[in-house]
Amino acid sequence: MDPVTIALHQRINTNDQAYPSVTPIYQCSAFSAESQFFYSRKDNPNLAELEQVLCTLEGARHGLAVTCGMAAIYLVLDLVRPGQLVVLNTDLYGCSFKLFKRISERRGWRLQVLDLSKDADIERIPTDTALVFFETPTNPFLKTVHIRQVVDRVKNNNPDALVVVDNTWATPLFQHPLEHGADISLHSGTKYFSGHSDVMNGMILTDRDDLHERLREDRFYAGLMLSPENAWLVRRSMQTFALRMRHHQEVTKKIAEFLTDCPQIARVYYPRVDGEQLTGYGGILFVELRRDLVPRYKELTERLQIFNTGTGMACVTSMIAQPYTGSHASMSAEEKAAMGLDESLVRLCIGMENADDIKDDLLSALGQIDGGAAPPRDAI
Ligand SMILES: Cc1ncc(COP(=O)(O)O)c(C=O)c1O
Repeated sequence: MDPVTIALHQRINTNDQAYPSVTPIYQCSAFSAESQFFYSRKDNPNLAELEQVLCTLEGARHGLAVTCGMAAIYLVLDLVRPGQLVVLNTDLYGCSFKLFKRISERRGWRLQVLDLSKDADIERIPTDTALVFFETPTNPFLKTVHIRQVVDRVKNNNPDALVVVDNTWATPLFQHPLEHGADISLHSGTKYFSGHSDVMNGMILTDRDDLHERLREDRFYAGLMLSPENAWLVRRSMQTFALRMRHHQEVTKKIAEFLTDCPQIARVYYPRVDGEQLTGYGGILFVELRRDLVPRYKELTERLQIFNTGTGMACVTSMIAQPYTGSHASMSAEEKAAMGLDESLVRLCIGMENADDIKDDLLSALGQIDGGAAPPRDAI
């Protein structure tokens, strides 16, 4: 049976005598001594159900629901011991980069940044690496990293080394890092899992019992579990997850093609969907504005009617943002330059609005900042 079908019907068994048609919110901190749940900092039916749904979709043995994507990363980076070497990919969400940098300085790890989208750099991963962390597709630029190739390089040298993939932008519908040999796949569920810009959450998935037990205990002691209400909200959103992803995919492809022909756009970034590792792609695009239009970015956002500005993304409404001043604002100018990131890059998150309305809105706003009047709607 398709995992999407299974996940739609997945329910935690709590022996509730009222037989509710969906699992209610277990708004309680403690459970009776006979309960498997014990205390909500350890486990709770709403978290357990959400974890099962994500395990089904991603084909993982274990899942851990945490407060947000950064909490997932924080728990995972705590697996590294002082003096060990961590390899990061060049293109990375700004806060992830900053977190690794801050913690590596405090705990005395060594940090090396490589462009893992290139075969030559995969071959340069040092033999004493303890943990490799990357996103694929990457935030920003949507470059893809060949997971199996990284795993082979790292594990051939050191079988104990960990390969951790941030699978947020591919999602479990389109990519299963564990099947390609990664030890951990993690997510900011605040994006596509929530899908409505209204609830933060993170997920850590692994097939390894030892890693799961260690991370589960760390979540318990650090108190990083997701709250029951938030778990319930995300679980509810997961009922439309596959539908939303397929819609994002269909409309975003069309918008990417259309933007390629827009004279105001110097370049459109869309990931390489190879059909083996990455079998599809959702709703986040990057475009490079034509150089002379870069100072008019703010005006562009004001001209757009449908696209809201803000850090929310991968949700039902379209959003626009400038990574340089937004998602990567915590990085220094030099760090951003090393990544090739400047103010010309714009992130477009394509929502659930009518595709022609989205196109119309972009065409009109881009035309207006380029000195032209808005074209009539039927000319689009
Ligand atoms: C790829 C990626 N990973 C992790 C995060 C952090 O997730 P959260 O905001 O849920 O903590 C983000 C946030 O934008 C992201 O884009």
